[in-house]
Amino acid sequence: MASRTRNVKTLRTVKDIRKAVQLWRKAGEPVALVPTMGALHNGHLTLVRAAQAKAKRVVVSIFVNPTQFAPTEDLARYPRDEAGDLAKLASVGADLVWAPEPAEMYPEGYATMIDVKGAALGLEGEFRPHHFGGVATVCCKLFSQVTPDYALFGEKDFQQLAVVRQMVRDLNLPLAIVGVPTVREADGLALSSRNRYLGPEERAIAPALNAALLTVAEKIAGGGRAGVAVKSAITAVERAGFTKVDYIAVRDAETLGEWKPSSGRPGRVLAAAWLGRTRLIDNVPIAAVKS
Ligand code: PAJ
Repeated sequence: MASRTRNVKTLRTVKDIRKAVQLWRKAGEPVALVPTMGALHNGHLTLVRAAQAKAKRVVVSIFVNPTQFAPTEDLARYPRDEAGDLAKLASVGADLVWAPEPAEMYPEGYATMIDVKGAALGLEGEFRPHHFGGVATVCCKLFSQVTPDYALFGEKDFQQLAVVRQMVRDLNLPLAIVGVPTVREADGLALSSRNRYLGPEERAIAPALNAALLTVAEKIAGGGRAGVAVKSAITAVERAGFTKVDYIAVRDAETLGEWKPSSGRPGRVLAAAWLGRTRLIDNVPIAAVKS
């Protein structure tokens, strides 16, 4: 199909993206947004395909958002490959790329941040205290710039998905948030732009995180105690060669607060752990607990 090999139009000013989306809206065409920070892989492209199933028009944003990185984090070395990203997006037939420069997103004098609590507290929020404020702020700006009917987010960043859902609900933003299951390598490692930091030895160790989370979920679904299962998972991940476990935790899948198997509510096992200089996160669902 000719349209699948064409370049994707890339816009860089708020004025241009608004104009482009307004034309679609006037024509009655629903619009879906896939927010990304680029360095695209098959996980991102799966979000684009899910967006195409929801809406006639799909906008992909590429913006490495400085406000969600702490000064000590990897903003400067975050992988960037716009040419490669555009080729991938053309191959899946995305309609438009929204790739503003930092000065267009945060012009001189920019001074407004969204303050998130609830689902943003604990887990990633404990280890990256300003992260979700930055994510919520940029997502709110992206939603207001692009005015999509849908925005799609991966379950890979499970807490981020919960924080964005909470913000949309709390601020009455007029769009629907759609979650998409995590895309994995054959050995279970969740696809991530940060996987390219892993050396060959680290890459071989990395799937141990997912394996440990699946074991926790299975034990709990079989009636095992969460605390015991988590403790042996931390040991297993460390034995496999992970340098440091930030957390492995069992939580309510919607609120990310405390979860009890007897609650009948969906549960989730979430983790973050370091392999050398690379921090990996992952999470898995807990099947209904056998009574
Ligand atoms: P980024 O890490 O580029 O991820 C963009 C989207 O792709 C997120 O919704 C993320 O959950 C999803 N994603 C990443 N890996 C995935 C995988 N293996 N399977 C399924 N989905 C996957 O997340 C961000 O960017 C930023 O925080 C952003 C939301 C763009 C705000 O700056």
